[in-house]
Amino acid sequence: IKISVCRRGGEPLSLTAKEGENFMHLLRDSEAGVEAICGGACSCATCHVYVGQQWLEKLPPQCDQERDMLGDMLFSRPDSRLACQIHLTADLDGIAVEVAPPEG
Ligand code: FES
Repeated sequence: IKISVCRRGGEPLSLTAKEGENFMHLLRDSEAGVEAICGGACSCATCHVYVGQQWLEKLPPQCDQERDMLGDMLFSRPDSRLACQIHLTADLDGIAVEVAPPEG
């Protein structure tokens, strides 16, 4: 599964993931600049990414906690998601995301 990431400084990064891999883990362990402080508990929002519009509908719906988190965030947009809530599946091959600015 190929992933295109736009880092905070605007530099592009290409990543390859295994099917079923957690998106946050992939980003955290790469040069993407994602800290993922809470380790995937949907409570730190440092894994916030903007998802390319055409990919948004392929993602599983947000859980209440993710929706609440994003609702409280300064840099939240309609295409915001928390990467820790996304598992990479074959139909996401080619997905493009942008790392959101840090909150605060
Ligand atoms: Fe903390 Fe996703 S890693 S909210």
